[in-house]
Amino acid sequence: MTGRFPQVRPRRLRATPAMRRLVAETRIHPAELVLPMFIREGATDAVDISSMPGVQQHSLDSFRRALNEAAEQGVGGVNLFGVPTSKDAEGSGATDPDGILNVAIRIAKEEVGDALVVQSDLCLDEFTDHGHCGVLAADGSVDNDATLLRYRDMAVAQAEAGAELVCMSGMMDGQIAAARGALDTAGHSGTALLAYSAKYASAFYGPFREAVASTLVGDRRTYQIDAADGRQGLREVLLDIEEGADIVMVKPAMSYLDVLARTADVSEVPVWAYQISGEYAMITAAAQNGWIDRDAAAMEALVGIKRAGADAILTYFAVDIARKLNQEAGLRTSGSTAAV
Ligand code: PBG
Repeated sequence: MTGRFPQVRPRRLRATPAMRRLVAETRIHPAELVLPMFIREGATDAVDISSMPGVQQHSLDSFRRALNEAAEQGVGGVNLFGVPTSKDAEGSGATDPDGILNVAIRIAKEEVGDALVVQSDLCLDEFTDHGHCGVLAADGSVDNDATLLRYRDMAVAQAEAGAELVCMSGMMDGQIAAARGALDTAGHSGTALLAYSAKYASAFYGPFREAVASTLVGDRRTYQIDAADGRQGLREVLLDIEEGADIVMVKPAMSYLDVLARTADVSEVPVWAYQISGEYAMITAAAQNGWIDRDAAAMEALVGIKRAGADAILTYFAVDIARKLNQEAGLRTSGSTAAV
């Protein structure tokens, strides 16, 4: 600096909306957003999820409508969770071809299968009466290897229903290799696997329990990673890639952006992030109180997640944000200067 005035002026690149738009390093596109959806067995109408305002457990009819809306707005995929009417210790509904999740996969393929990717959640917690992600051993602990056998059958059932991307969220050791082996043996070598690799035991999953009507006994700390441990997240990522994961994911997003950034540095497969139920609930609840601007806060969070290294993001805001992006693009093509 010479004299009293700065010669370096970073503010030049922030001076106008047009300049800010031109220099933006990070953009969100509808195609890289994935909408998680809940489908409730036996529901005649959609049921609101009170802790996630704006998100619903779908009936089959409302599910069809929401699928088409998501496709119209150009989101990249939908990630399906089933909410079964009856649950048991083994999570039998998960492998029943007529179980709600497998039915939903078939419907999604039929309705919008040409427009977007149909993803299915592969985990037992939605289907077990104890709410754990696996089956239990006699002493009540989650039995890793017995669970892998259930996951193998579940992967095949989902692929047979038409899932293109099977998303493994259970955090059992060896789950990617187990599902890959089962799929290949059953003739589904074309079905891709997403690994929830760096999945942390998080207080922010709270609203999801309501969304899937889960009554978890205990907690998931013996299989999901402790918040304090970044290296374990990376180790899981590397193991899952070795086991054949086509995509790896970090979850939750906002409290784990460092793990996401480190994963993006080392991964040779796409890296995704999940902005989870509690992250959605926080933004939505604060906005309902008039404390923050919902869309602006959602967009800032998503840009942050992408800037940290996510190639795509699972978010309950997917359709809202896609609509907003499409409207802005529409304003520009119609010649308005109001677009930003
Ligand atoms: C497990 C699963 C969970 C979520 C996605 N898959 C819950 C958990 O691990 O406790 C959470 C998603 C969210 O909170 O939005 N099947």
